Amino acid sequence: MEHKDDGMMNMKTTRDVVRGLKDVAAAETKISYVDPMGVLYYLGYNIDDLMGNVIYSEVAYLLLHGILPNKRELDAFCAKIISQMRLPREVEECIKCSPKHAHPMDVLRTEVSRLGEFDVEGKDFTDEANRRRAIRLIAQVPTIVAAFHRSRQGLPILYPKEDYSFAENYLYMFKGHRPSQDESDVLQRLMILHADHGFNASTFAARVTASTNSDMYSAVTTAIGTLRGPLHGGASEKVMEMLDDIGLEEEVEEYIQGLLDDHKKIMGFGHRVYKVEDPRTKHLRCIVENLCHKDRTMSLYNKCLQIEGIVHDRKSIYPNLDFYAAVAMDALGVPKEFFTPFFCSSRISGWVAHIIEQYEDAVLLRPSSNYVGEFGRKFVPVEQR
Ligand code: SDX
Repeated sequence: MEHKDDGMMNMKTTRDVVRGLKDVAAAETKISYVDPMGVLYYLGYNIDDLMGNVIYSEVAYLLLHGILPNKRELDAFCAKIISQMRLPREVEECIKCSPKHAHPMDVLRTEVSRLGEFDVEGKDFTDEANRRRAIRLIAQVPTIVAAFHRSRQGLPILYPKEDYSFAENYLYMFKGHRPSQDESDVLQRLMILHADHGFNASTFAARVTASTNSDMYSAVTTAIGTLRGPLHGGASEKVMEMLDDIGLEEEVEEYIQGLLDDHKKIMGFGHRVYKVEDPRTKHLRCIVENLCHKDRTMSLYNKCLQIEGIVHDRKSIYPNLDFYAAVAMDALGVPKEFFTPFFCSSRISGWVAHIIEQYEDAVLLRPSSNYVGEFGRKFVPVEQR
């Protein structure tokens, strides 16, 4: 579109708009690669090679430091995280004052922001200080989630135990009792699969905030607000609502076909990048099959398979991370409004790694736009309008 400013000047003001920034590379990253043909790499490791062979803390270390830790480094990293899981007393008190009916994502977004007020390293923004801050956030985001779940039930907030692993502590502080080995293993696997995923919307949002040299708490708060949306991490809660709403297996066909006939999106399906099945889905489907088998809820698993078949036949799309993750978290006894906070509890390790990489990249993320509004409107003082 050309525009004439009193005939004095022709400004070329149009550029090619890429709606949704689809396939636009906004920066370079070494942290993860999302291959559209269905492979996910964390720092060059295929997640299929990591699953079943590492714990979540190893992945968090890998994202932060770029290498997998040896045994001594891993033990020290795990001990450091567990030693930092406890929240500042003031933040605990604020969580206790949160309304019991508040959505856990509101509480998480607010309290992560509040953590910035009590940061012991204040205005030290050196790389070393940011890396220490990153570890505190990896440790304390799960604690905020667990503390609110306890507090809203009128139960005392629990504190981490030195002899529990990170995953055991998370579930212990959330549920009030030591989890079984199976429960801890499921949480480890879920957290590994949720840890990072290229320039997804919440990670990109965090990087935009970090690109202005704003602080890490502001960038993570941006990410939490972004992940919450049902088109992103908020989908898992909607998946569970849908599965609860469908009822019996016999009702799946009519229910899903009806949504598709009404041009509704099926939550937990589709992906901006993958052209084939999300590589995380096979791991999650296996976790859910085992859980449903153990819990004698195979009808739920069969409902999921049925939904997969219908949606693929109609739209040629696949389940994404959120579809089976919802069922797995439900089986762990996590209320559905806590599914996205659990997503945050893992993705925090990817977010802080990207924030630090963005600080190193040191460029302001500020795209252009095509102005399609009016020019040259004649000003009229308010008295004459
Ligand atoms: C996550 O980016 C990441 O990596 C995110 C994530 C991560 O790890 O960080 O992987 C996690 O956020 C997964 C996505 C969770 N969201 C949902 O499950 C919500 C439902 N999904 C859709 O809204 C959608 O699939 C998106 C948002 C995920 C992707 O949307 P796009 O890339 O903008 O694609 P689109 O909406 O333009 O759809 C393309 C076509 C359309 O068909 P037509 O209109 O051209 O005929 O596919 C259809 C859509 O109607 N389609 C769906 C659908 N998703 C896409 N149809 C029905 N149900 C769906 N879920």
